[in-house]
Amino acid sequence: MNFKEELKEYQKYVNDKLQESINYEKCPEEVLNASTEYSLMAGGKRIRPILILATYKMLCKNENCNYDKCLPYVISMEMIHNFSLIHDDLPGIDNDDMRHGKLTNHKAFNEATAILAGDKLLNGAYNNISSYICKKIEEGKNVNNDVKAMQILTNATDRMIIGEYIDTESENKEIPIELLDYIHENKTGALIEAAVKIGAIMAKASKEDFESVSTYAKKIGLAFQIKDDILSEIGDEKIMGKPVGNDKEKNKSTYVSMYGLEVAEDILENITFEAIDSIHKYGEKAKFLKELAMYIKDREK
Ligand code: IPE
Ligand code: IPE
Ligand code: MG
Ligand code: MG
Repeated sequence: MNFKEELKEYQKYVNDKLQESINYEKCPEEVLNASTEYSLMAGGKRIRPILILATYKMLCKNENCNYDKCLPYVISMEMIHNFSLIHDDLPGIDNDDMRHGKLTNHKAFNEATAILAGDKLLNGAYNNISSYICKKIEEGKNVNNDVKAMQILTNATDRMIIGEYIDTESENKEIPIELLDYIHENKTGALIEAAVKIGAIMAKASKEDFESVSTYAKKIGLAFQIKDDILSEIGDEKIMGKPVGNDKEKNKSTYVSMYGLEVAEDILENITFEAIDSIHKYGEKAKFLKELAMYIKDREK
């Protein structure tokens, strides 16, 4: 299977599992449920859940490799990511009208519904995981790694919110490069890093393996946001399904505004190759994750 086919297969797996997790029952809050489904199933790339699965696959010992172990984290990770996007698009933050080629959640529904849909996705994510852990405890199973994975996710979400806050507060301001890196590492890097770490925890990785994949994750996390900054400057709105030029419009500090387009592209290139280097020792097993780093660098959306 080539990279594109494998990526599609992962995306299909994640989409199917997300679809199964949605509540379509008739109930007084069915519009709220419809609004969470609207964003969750709108066509995201599923990079974070795929990172959980692909890291798990690379590090697990073959005889007990089973994606089911990762499932609560796969679903919850994408729920939290979509919570962050719904709130990011709100008038009080980025005030954007389009996401995934469709109206943003608050435009398709209304602001109150969008705020609460975001809240529901965030809390629902933890509800999923804690229910799964309770069930395992009742069955007398060991939950040590699940508790660790949940802590990684809750901590990363905290960091993502901190990054969003500083990003928002830094609009129309000159900020030092160190603060821009702090924004990127938290706003975008944290969840990407957490995805890789959760995959490693589920695979019962050794300390050394955990460190190696964490280095990879840190680098692709920053690369991901540098590319987002570049696409916000020169991307194709039709392909991206979200606005182009809005960072500039809002006077945001980005890698492009700070370094210029060419240098930003060079930094992106270097950091991608450093990420690939950090998992080189896994040889053929690292093929997908290496190609994923290239995909992050070269993506058009
Ligand atoms: C967009 O993330 C927001 C950032 C953190 C840069 P993605 O580009 O992963 O979003 P989707 O879900 O694939 O649209
Ligand atoms: C969104 O950041 C990141 C989070 C929601 C944490 P941006 O505002 O830079 O991303 P887009 O361009 O709206 O996707
Ligand atoms: Mg934003
Ligand atoms: Mg935004």
